[in-house]
Amino acid sequence: MKTILVKTSTSQYPVYVGSQLLSKLGSLFQDLSLGGKVLIVTQKKIAKHFLKPVQQSLKQKGYAVFVHEIPDGETAKSSKELFGLYRVLLKHGFERRDTILALGGGVVGDLSGFAAATYLRGVRFVNIGTTFLAQVDSSVGGKTGINLPEGKNLVGAFYPPKFVVSDVALFQTLPDREFRSSLAEVVKYGVIRSGELFRFLEDEADKILHRDERALEHLVLESVKIKAQVVASDEFEARGERMILNFGHTFGHGFEQATGYKKLLHGEAVAIGIVCASRLAVALKMFSEVEEKRVVALLQKFDLPVSLSGLSLKMASVLQAMQRDKKKSAGKLRWVLPTHIGDVLVRDDVPLPLIRKVIREAGGK
Ligand SMILES: NC(=O)c1ccc[n+]([C@@H]2O[C@H](COP(=O)([O-])OP(=O)(O)OC[C@H]3O[C@@H](n4cnc5c(N)ncnc54)[C@H](O)[C@@H]3O)[C@@H](O)[C@H]2O)c1
Ligand SMILES: [Zn+2]
Repeated sequence: MKTILVKTSTSQYPVYVGSQLLSKLGSLFQDLSLGGKVLIVTQKKIAKHFLKPVQQSLKQKGYAVFVHEIPDGETAKSSKELFGLYRVLLKHGFERRDTILALGGGVVGDLSGFAAATYLRGVRFVNIGTTFLAQVDSSVGGKTGINLPEGKNLVGAFYPPKFVVSDVALFQTLPDREFRSSLAEVVKYGVIRSGELFRFLEDEADKILHRDERALEHLVLESVKIKAQVVASDEFEARGERMILNFGHTFGHGFEQATGYKKLLHGEAVAIGIVCASRLAVALKMFSEVEEKRVVALLQKFDLPVSLSGLSLKMASVLQAMQRDKKKSAGKLRWVLPTHIGDVLVRDDVPLPLIRKVIREAGGK
């Protein structure tokens, strides 16, 4: 097991990365002497595979363990589920020193993290990310929240966990498309911060696709290190550094929204977004064509989409969706663009005709 410390403005929390870690959970709790009660928030599918060892490990160390299942899917990040969760906590008499333990992907983590941030103005929060996306992205950085009918993640809080457990053995049960789509986020980390990580992805693609645990452990470790560094320099997304994590996402969110969140998984939309952002950088003469081709080839190795073909996406709806992107500054879209594999710049002076050209070349109509 390896440990990465994520610094926050007031303290720091460990992310434990390894394999077969669930049985160690009780000891990890004890090391931090958290309170006596634990509410595990999870989903049916996940509980089937992983609930028992988590419960056992906690009970062995004397914790009173409760379980609350939430429905599957993005709609579970709702006020209804949030208030349901508060009532379960009240019913079992949870106090500030007790813990909400998220056992799931980003949906479980975001909802239960926000409940932890707000119930009694804050109870303890521990996150076990069970998806690849949760381990490389959502479980680190302290963002929690729910959706409103008007849009995603519109209500939330920055609320760091006490610790995070990232067990790569849990990926074995993930559906293939889900697993591959999260690799787009890892490619993102390589392009924005680490030529070495990018090369590792190129060299070890076969092992990664076969879910070799050592290779996956390396990917999670390196991704968490990069996200932790970026987040430590801009915890509350106020200064701009955190913006670089948005590489591929301005286009990606546009594609996701314009397809009604139905045809593309998040990571797939990000993969096409990474291609578009790389081509935009080439058009602006910031990035070489050779490196752009390497980026496209790597995404293709992971069988991720690199164009919009077959989606019949209208230019106007993509542009409109991108305009709604939260990460604008004074009404201007900001673009995270690579200068080399391993380095990016943020620009807000990209002419609209160039953006249209890139989307058209990717297959937008
Ligand atoms: N807080 C953040 O910083 C942050 C960052 C990125 C994304 N997010 C949020 O994360 C959410 C997406 O997260 P996600 O991609 O993990 O999706 P998810 O939580 O919906 O999980 C995907 C599916 O996989 C199932 N699952 C989870 N672990 C499994 C396992 N080990 N084996 C088999 N099935 C498993 C889940 O039950 C679910 O059906 C979005 O709501 C997004 O807004 C948050
Ligand atoms: Zn993402």
